[in-house]
Amino acid sequence: MKGNFPIQKLRELQTPFYFYDTDILRNTLELVKKESVRYGYHIHYAVKANANPRILSIIREYGLGADCVSGGEIKAALQAGFPAQKIVFAGVGKADWEINLGLDNDIFCFNAESIPELEVINDLATAKGKTASVALRINPEVDAHTHHYITTGLKENKFGINLSQLNDVIDTLKRLSNVKLIGLHFHIGSQLTDLTPYHGLCARINDLQDQLAKQRIIVEHINVGGGLGIDYHHPNRQAYPDFKEYFGIFHRLLKLRPEQSLHFEPGRSIVGQCGSLITKVLYVKEGSTKKFVIVDAGMTDLLRPALYQAYHKIENITSDREIESYDVVGPICESSDCFGKAVDLNEVKRGDLLALRSAGAYGEIMASQYNCRPLSLAYFSDNL
Ligand code: LLP
Repeated sequence: MKGNFPIQKLRELQTPFYFYDTDILRNTLELVKKESVRYGYHIHYAVKANANPRILSIIREYGLGADCVSGGEIKAALQAGFPAQKIVFAGVGKADWEINLGLDNDIFCFNAESIPELEVINDLATAKGKTASVALRINPEVDAHTHHYITTGLKENKFGINLSQLNDVIDTLKRLSNVKLIGLHFHIGSQLTDLTPYHGLCARINDLQDQLAKQRIIVEHINVGGGLGIDYHHPNRQAYPDFKEYFGIFHRLLKLRPEQSLHFEPGRSIVGQCGSLITKVLYVKEGSTKKFVIVDAGMTDLLRPALYQAYHKIENITSDREIESYDVVGPICESSDCFGKAVDLNEVKRGDLLALRSAGAYGEIMASQYNCRPLSLAYFSDNL
């Protein structure tokens, strides 16, 4: 089974380009709303997954907040109309101008990752006569069992405050007059398809909350980050992540204090399946043992396969001929510029269009201009 593409229209466009199916995006947003509203959960879309202005404005229509990791993302979120009061600002290395931007806009919360960062936020807030709301990003030491580049909750990661350092941080907070502790923030990793690590995260948070309660510290909110995975192998059959099961885990296992709110930062699960990278076949080259399909998109357009050996399903959307096996490679001067080995495709000819599926998250936004290549444009199913 292949995806649903308006092939005649796509043929008229300059390749490579991103194609976004807005029905899939909207259905995903309906679903995430439906499954989170029942528990009163707050959703901040992780802008890092895809900051295309049109995508952001569709997401904003559904009332989600934004999770930003840079001043640029804060600007993009504000421009798309996300209310500042629904913006969280995370990141291990926030520059002064970025903190100031957050302060000037009175964003909901800074997710702070270290003592020196808290001190700087305090100084900058003091200079403006403001009080910054902060959540502490705690490293919960829970293994997400995902790719080592995108697992973040382990002790040796650069992210977050280690549990053993928490008391020092709390002591520091007592002397910082212009930051207010309002939350605890966690994120264990990305692309989790086995959700059991979230059970461990809930248990860890429950313990921590008990410990903090003994010191009379009860925060207003808990933020459990993002990470819900998508099905890269079956984007047609499994276009929508299991938000019901995901939120259900937290509802069952996380013990919130009265009045405490729960926040999430999903990125990939919101935008992953709505996007495909469409590329044209330049050449079919016979090697001595295999056939190569050389396409006009490369790792500059979609970096994930080269960087993480990530799998993206590839379909020849303009052919129903017999299936053959090919290595699909791009034109960049790097051996890692390969989208897939021994890929089954309907027989490929020069000029065919291939779709690299599930490319809505960490696709367009991670593109580069290496080899002086222009950035790919984006098109949307509802205004082609
Ligand atoms: N919150 C925090 C603190 C994060 O670090 C991330 C992702 C998210 C939320 C959103 O996670 P998601 O729901 O999208 O899994 N470029 C990589 C993924 C890097 C994820 C970084 N942090 C990839 O292409 O797989």
